[in-house]
Amino acid sequence: MRRLTFSTALIFGEKPLDYLKQFKGRRIFIVCDPFMVSSGLLDQVTARISDCDVYIFSQITPDPSIELVAEGVSALRAFAPDLLIAFGGGSALDAAKAFRHFADEAGGSHIEFIAIPTTSGTGSEVTSFAVITDKQKGVKYPLVSEKLLPDTAILDWQLVRSVPAQLVADTGMDVLTHALEAYVSTKATDFSDALAEKATVLVFGYLHQAYRNGDDEQAKTKMHHASTLAGMAFNEASLGLNHALAHVIGGQLGIPHGRTNSILLPHVVLYNADFGEYGQKDFSLAAQKYAHLARLAGLGGASVRSSVRNLVGAIVKLQKLMKMPQTLSQCHLETMFDSNMRTTIAQLALKDNCLLTNPRPADEDDVQRVLQQII
Ligand SMILES: NC(=O)c1ccc[n+]([C@@H]2O[C@H](COP(=O)([O-])OP(=O)(O)OC[C@H]3O[C@@H](n4cnc5c(N)ncnc54)[C@H](O)[C@@H]3O)[C@@H](O)[C@H]2O)c1
Ligand SMILES: [Fe+2]
Repeated sequence: MRRLTFSTALIFGEKPLDYLKQFKGRRIFIVCDPFMVSSGLLDQVTARISDCDVYIFSQITPDPSIELVAEGVSALRAFAPDLLIAFGGGSALDAAKAFRHFADEAGGSHIEFIAIPTTSGTGSEVTSFAVITDKQKGVKYPLVSEKLLPDTAILDWQLVRSVPAQLVADTGMDVLTHALEAYVSTKATDFSDALAEKATVLVFGYLHQAYRNGDDEQAKTKMHHASTLAGMAFNEASLGLNHALAHVIGGQLGIPHGRTNSILLPHVVLYNADFGEYGQKDFSLAAQKYAHLARLAGLGGASVRSSVRNLVGAIVKLQKLMKMPQTLSQCHLETMFDSNMRTTIAQLALKDNCLLTNPRPADEDDVQRVLQQII
């Protein structure tokens, strides 16, 4: 038996931030990073809640750490708000989820929660995951609980206009990875497939346009929606080998999450497709599903094999158009990536829960081979 609910209300369309104007006289705790304050982006939120008592926690850094979460929980408990607003990229959203989760566990009353993403990437506004990093060990831990889900997500394309092109590329490839992994996951359903298909078609249709022109309302809106759709898809179906490895590589080497996913994606798709000899008649379910997606996205292909090759080719083409690295060695790593590091990464990735739903099982040798390909 499976149960599927979408409990986060989505606010989108014309002037969605005006939704905040209804909150009068509330105690509001806002979680964001320093850039949101210095750039003036946060004013768009605070101007709409001017008669509320507001505390701004603006210390968020990329990949929130355990220490930052502890600091946030104390500040949240001390202020005792009745509304929590997370405003920013996946890091701010995940941190706010963790603050509320641990404050709740410590006996606080449940706080209403609004997530406002300012990147089109993680889908965190609709997922029951929050990724917290142990910076000492270089490991990312996902918290997983339905209680992490925001009550409301506000999707406003105007907030992603200022995202620099390289971050549009990184976060956009994160969206594509969420959609592709959810689509071939062993937990995929007709419902998650529908969401993943739409997200994939939107990414291939609009990501490059959104990268080229931050003011392109149509492309930016479509990518913002694709991010949420892909989040809904993987919240239902989970992810796979790509994210299992990306969590570890991101934690160990500090490469941005979406960029790591992007580097891995062509190799993981080919690994999962698991092609045999030319002329084979039977293909894995993952290969058939990738081929179907490729055709839906207008990438063509006369056979399962050629459609999957076209899908991989389209991913690589996007990477090149957006000047993204295709290997780890193009990422200017500060840490030596030697064979010890490869073994550590492979062993940690095998323990990541995302691997449980990968369509093709992977052992340490398989993971090492994928790593070898991306070095
Ligand atoms: N919860 C989930 O389901 C989930 C899924 C995937 C990834 N994640 C996590 O999310 C994090 C990555 O999130 P992200 O990719 O959104 O990046 P991020 O939140 O780490 O932000 C990266 C940078 O972008 C800047 N930024 C954000 N919005 C901006 C804007 N509108 N204009 C200009 N700059 C802006 C930030 O200031 C920051 O410097 C990682 O920690 C990853 O592990 C979570
Ligand atoms: Fe991701």
